[in-house]
Amino acid sequence: MQEKINKYIHDINSITISSIEEATIFHKKYLSKKGLLNQLFNEFKVLESAKKRELGPLLNNLKKIITEKSQTLKIDKNDNLSKQSKKIDITLPSSYEPVGSLHPLSQVKRKIISIFEKVGFIISDGPEIEDDWHNFSALNMPKNHPARDMQDTFFISVNPDMLLRTHTSSVQIRYMNQTEPPIRIISPGRVYRKEDISARANCFFHQIEGLYIDHDISFSDLKKMITYFLKSLFGEDVKTRFRPSFFPFTEPSAEVDIYWGLNSESDYRITKGTGWLEIMGCGMIDPNVLENVNINPKIYSGFAFGLGIERIAMLLYQIDDLRLFFENDIRFLKQFQGLS
Ligand code: DAH
Repeated sequence: MQEKINKYIHDINSITISSIEEATIFHKKYLSKKGLLNQLFNEFKVLESAKKRELGPLLNNLKKIITEKSQTLKIDKNDNLSKQSKKIDITLPSSYEPVGSLHPLSQVKRKIISIFEKVGFIISDGPEIEDDWHNFSALNMPKNHPARDMQDTFFISVNPDMLLRTHTSSVQIRYMNQTEPPIRIISPGRVYRKEDISARANCFFHQIEGLYIDHDISFSDLKKMITYFLKSLFGEDVKTRFRPSFFPFTEPSAEVDIYWGLNSESDYRITKGTGWLEIMGCGMIDPNVLENVNINPKIYSGFAFGLGIERIAMLLYQIDDLRLFFENDIRFLKQFQGLS
């Protein structure tokens, strides 16, 4: 055993190591679990006490030499690395880092917001978990009103008075309750409806609500504002029409269509053969709604409108399946990089 120890010491002293590979080989040979040092210690364990006393210091010395050698290697290794890092060529192009982008729905939302901000609207938020009064009753839809069926609702089971808001119109009520007219707000946000998920519907989606209240506001102000908005978003040449409709919280009410054309098979499908596509609902605020929030309808009047962000994004980017917006498939999202 003594001979072995001396041989190892001799071997180690004559070794020079200048690469990471050599360092790894050294470590494996001497210091790994089944390495030579452990083998010697196993042999040492079974020696008689007298032998142990004689060989113990020698073995410890070998251990010290091996450890020191392995530590100098570490220093060498670092040295090598730092030499390597000095060799970096900073004139080379940098490595490719993928750049993220805003979700298409956020991009469309921002576009719409900026159009309304230009004409003095400010943003107002409301909660997604809403009470019955703000979502329905105050908007002229008392309990058991048939118009509630237009929006299949998720109620919160522990409190039947609470629900997931079905539209952003609830924010109108919150804002009017707190603020004296004149009012010009838009309220972007997520809304929920109990719908089966398909290419055309989802159980949640996004809306933008608008509200404008002042003295002497008439339907022509509403028309002017919506036309300004649609021209800003779809271009000066966009063809629009206002179609009479019904919403409990506006009187008169209208739906706004844009002319989409009938150039392709899919134009026929999405416009049901008419070429026209519904974009939003709007109307003059019903005096009952103003009274519910203590605004005098004899002094003030106003209009409101509500539009679906997904719908507009589908039109702008020719997307024919709503589910793509919610799957977060990177191949889909990547296509919206650099758009705004
Ligand atoms: N809240 C309606 C919906 O979700 C959209 C709407 C229609 C909002 C007419 C309005 C409005 O403010 O005046 O279907």
